[in-house]
Amino acid sequence: MLPASFETARLISRPIEAADAQAIFDEYGQDAEVTRYLTWRPVTHVEQTRAFVEICLRAQTSRSYMLVSKASGRVIGSFDLRTAGHGRLDFGYVLGRRHWRQGLMTEALTEVVGWALAQPSIWRIGAVADVENLASIRVMEKAGLRREGILSRWMIHPNVSDEPRDCVILARTW
Ligand SMILES: CC(C)(COP(=O)(O)OP(=O)(O)OC[C@H]1O[C@@H](n2cnc3c(N)ncnc32)[C@H](O)[C@@H]1OP(=O)(O)O)[C@@H](O)C(=O)NCCC(=O)NCCS
Repeated sequence: MLPASFETARLISRPIEAADAQAIFDEYGQDAEVTRYLTWRPVTHVEQTRAFVEICLRAQTSRSYMLVSKASGRVIGSFDLRTAGHGRLDFGYVLGRRHWRQGLMTEALTEVVGWALAQPSIWRIGAVADVENLASIRVMEKAGLRREGILSRWMIHPNVSDEPRDCVILARTW
């Protein structure tokens, strides 16, 4: 059901491969600022990234895509799409820090949201973000998602706190 790839003006999104582990490690996996609001701690060895990629490759209800810059041909980030039942898609994304604030994730998410809502079997696409993750909330709003509210004590973001954090839930529906 999930497409093999997405393409935008500046990006190709293609399925993750085992060989991507090194690029993930180099580009963002070790970066404490990139991982600040994610559910995992920065990695310290590429073997940890290899193990993570293996999990992605075995996943049944989600697909992980690598975001590749058309200009450089290099991996610059990634994007996960997860089927969540009853016509619902969830997603997650991450971009290497040196590529931030160039409109790239807005470009990628806008394409994915457009695809999703053109599917007769998909009624909703959305995600949650830490209440302090203003960049991610803004990307989702720019891609047309609507803030639906705050989920109190929803998710642990271990780089911020060991206690569950309040998260904003955003979605686009039709
Ligand atoms: C969230 C993330 C993917 C945004 O990607 P990006 O390509 O830099 O975002 P864009 O350039 O498309 O920016 C979209 C909007 O967010 C704003 N924005 C970007 N970074 C911001 C920041 N640090 N603080 C506040 N606003 C920010 C931009 O200004 C823009 O809004 P505007 O057009 O109104 O000015 C990137 O910051 C990232 O990888 N963060 C770490 C991983 C993460 O948190 N993932 C999401 C988990 S829910």
